[in-house]
This record gives sequence, structure tokens and C-alpha cells, in this order.
Amino acid sequence: MNKKVIKTVSVVGLFSCLAIGFTSCEKRDPNSPGVEFMPDMYRSPSLESNMAYTMLESGEIMQANRLPVKGTVARGYLPYVYGNDTAGYGNAGRHLHNPLPKNETNLKQGEELYGKFCVHCHGTSGQGDGLVGGKLPGSPPSFTGALKNLPEGKMFHTITYGKGLMGPHASQLTQEERWKVVLYIQKLQNPEGMATANIAANATPAETKPEEKK
Ligand code: HEC
Repeated sequence: MNKKVIKTVSVVGLFSCLAIGFTSCEKRDPNSPGVEFMPDMYRSPSLESNMAYTMLESGEIMQANRLPVKGTVARGYLPYVYGNDTAGYGNAGRHLHNPLPKNETNLKQGEELYGKFCVHCHGTSGQGDGLVGGKLPGSPPSFTGALKNLPEGKMFHTITYGKGLMGPHASQLTQEERWKVVLYIQKLQNPEGMATANIAANATPAETKPEEKK
């Protein structure tokens, strides 16, 4: 009888020791929200931008950032119809013209953009002698030399898609900003008044020099 009592006491004792041991070992996380009764209230089921997630139905891995639905145009963005190929480049040169007026405001903004995105390669006066441009295997051609008669549509096309060692700038500059930079390049090409490309586009046939007609 006595032995049984001792046994019971010792078993109870052992369990209490273990219980005390476990609870005292447990380090409480001060940031823990404790027991979650309704996890959705703590953990939002909405997607974070840039994350990948798995579609429940198909198991397909999707990006939270979605592409625009085909055939739709995002507000503030105009579709660019000329393809990134030789034909697109040629057509842009022939048919694409600057919709912006050549005024001081646009030129000033074009100059600012040029200073942020282009000057390090093309140089302050557009000679291709910027800090980076001078170190490229082939420096960017001069705007007043080899590129003197480059049509504005081709300039826009190249800024959009890039060319050779020049990367595309469509994600950095809106179409309007690209046209403003084009205006500024034309100012570098022809500081006094209208740029050659604009004269060619706006001139009446009588004013056009024979070699520009081609
Ligand atoms: C990384 C250096 C670099 C940067 C930055 C850069 N360019 Fe260029 N750019 C070049 C090079 C190199 C070429 C020559 C490409 C070729 O013909 O292979 C070029 C060519 C051009 C041409 C002539 C395109 C043609 O059709 O022949 C234009 C116009 C031009 N760049 C404008 C810009 C403008 C505007 C910016 C800024 C928004 C800019 N570039 C930024 C390196 C650069």
C-alpha cells in the first residue's frame, strides 16, 4: 500500500518536473501573434506585386504582374506600330513624324532628358564622346556628322528599340518624352532654328534641295 502511494507520488512528481522543465525552456517570441483562430485575418490572401504564385486549378506558375489583355491600350501609353526590324526602321524613317511643336518648353524638357539618359554616351554636344560613349568599342556616331540627315522617325525608332550597342529606352521614356529628346538632338544638329529633318518634313517641294527629295 505504502509502496503504491510512493509510486504515484513519484510519477506525478516526474510529470510536474517535465512540465515545469518544458515551460521554462520555452522562449516566448515577443512578436508572436499567439494562436491564430482565423489565419486569413492575419495573412492576407491578396498577391504581392512581383511575386510568383501557383494557380490552384491548373498548378501553373503565374506572375502577379500580368500583361495587358490583348487588344487593350493602357491609359497614357500609345501603341507603337513599327516592328523592331529593318522594314520597321525604314518605314518609321519615311512615315513617322514628331507630333510635338518645337517650342522652348519641349526643347528644355528634351535637354533635361538628354542629360539624364543620353549624355554619358552621346556627349554634351552629341559628338559621341560622353564618358561612357568614348569607352565603347565603337563610339556612338556624331549627330552632326554621320547622323546629320537622320530622319526623326528613325531617331524615335532607335530610342524605342535600341540599335547596336545602344539599349532600348522605351521603358525609361514615354513616347512624348522620346519626341522631346528628338527635338533636342535636332537642336544639337542645327542650333539655329529648325533642324534639317524638320525642314525636309515641312518644306514645300520648291524649297527642298534636290538631294533631300530622294
Ligand atoms: C550605352 C550608350 C548609349 C546610350 C545611353 C544612348 N545611346 Fe544612342 N547610340 C549609341 C550607339 C553606340 C549608337 C550607334 C548604334 C549603331 O548604329 O550601331 C547610338 C545611336 C543613336 C542614334 C542614331 C540611330 C540611328 O538610327 O542610326 C540616335 C538618334 C541615338 N543614339 C539617340 C540616343 C538618345 C536620344 C539617347 C538617350 C535617350 C541615347 N541615344 C542613349 C549609344 C548610346
